Amino acid sequence: MASRVEANQRIARLSAHLYPSNLQMEDSSGMRRANCRAKGGAPGFKVAILGAAGGIGQPLAMLMKMNPLVSVLHLYDVVNAPGVTADISHMDTGAVVRGFLGQPQLDNALTGMDLVIIPAGVPRKPGMTRDDLFKINAGIVRTLCEGIARCCPKAIVNLISNPVNSTVPIAAEVFKKAGTYDPKRLLGVTMLDVVRANTFVAEVLGLDPREVDVPVVGGHSGVTILPLLSQVKPPCSFTQEETEYLTDRIQNGGTEVVEAKAGAGSATLSMAYAAVKFADACLRGLRGDAGIVECSFVASQVTELPFFATKVRLGRNGAEEIYQLGPLNEYERAGLEKAKRELAGSIQKGISFISK
Ligand SMILES: NC(=O)c1ccc[n+]([C@@H]2O[C@H](COP(=O)([O-])OP(=O)(O)OC[C@H]3O[C@@H](n4cnc5c(N)ncnc54)[C@H](O)[C@@H]3O)[C@@H](O)[C@H]2O)c1
Repeated sequence: MASRVEANQRIARLSAHLYPSNLQMEDSSGMRRANCRAKGGAPGFKVAILGAAGGIGQPLAMLMKMNPLVSVLHLYDVVNAPGVTADISHMDTGAVVRGFLGQPQLDNALTGMDLVIIPAGVPRKPGMTRDDLFKINAGIVRTLCEGIARCCPKAIVNLISNPVNSTVPIAAEVFKKAGTYDPKRLLGVTMLDVVRANTFVAEVLGLDPREVDVPVVGGHSGVTILPLLSQVKPPCSFTQEETEYLTDRIQNGGTEVVEAKAGAGSATLSMAYAAVKFADACLRGLRGDAGIVECSFVASQVTELPFFATKVRLGRNGAEEIYQLGPLNEYERAGLEKAKRELAGSIQKGISFISK
């Protein structure tokens, strides 16, 4: 009789390992796994990733588990969250990892979070524009943002799901409806455009990309991505041919990856890297570090459009200061007009999705 009880206890312990969505449950041994794991937890911020089992979500989860500013990491997805959680939770870094599977667990995933990163959605396939993704991803972003409004309305939100030019206005409308909207806390992630711009410009200049800083403004698709090559640091100049090559490559970097992957998805690894770079900047801002400046697509009065990507200063409340565009050359002024025309439509599409 006793051996059967022991066997059942062993099975319960084993199943808790295999199905880590049970991580927070008490198992039959009487030992609380959540408590057990929390002992290694360092002080820091609580971060949730929504869409954590995806192409971006998995490397993003891994990199956030390595971030010393993170004490608690919640991984939410509608598929495979337990598997990714089990895998990531074995890493011997400070953050405590918990997994959440499916809509019924969304609220638990979000409660108490300081930062919510959203790479949930479907990626672009060859021949698909970012706007083709609109219908599917718009609905996903709406549901997730309704959860944020309910459970962690003060969290900083990093929105990655495409089309960012429309999903950020969608999120804003959801938060307005819920009465929780704080424009400083809603940040569209355009960091991959900056990361690519730094890399491609460094290649042309023969520099280390870590020494290069290219402001990229506007939005996050095609011609709305506007690299300001006249403001590159360190100061440098480009021929017209170099300017056109670089602008085109930066604007179409996503397509370069989609085509190279030939049906197997879009940028995931470089995107996870860029997302972590941006999330880390947000967390350092939350901690109160001074002088944290990154580009992001935010509510803005820099142009006549209600949303626009520029450099922003990140602080305890999110995007605390939004920088002006600075002096543009003629090529950039023409690019800005094109970008604004396209952006206006994408922003309106997002707003109408919620208000209709
Ligand atoms: N902002 C950027 O620079 C940038 C760059 C690349 C890709 N993206 C976008 O990021 C998104 C994700 O790309 P990916 O390659 O990781 O896609 P993917 O299909 O590999 O992963 C998406 C994940 O989202 C999950 N998901 C779907 N519906 C969900 C829901 N309702 N709640 C929670 N999770 C849900 C899926 O199960 C999947 O695990 C896409 O919209 C893509 O276009 C943005």
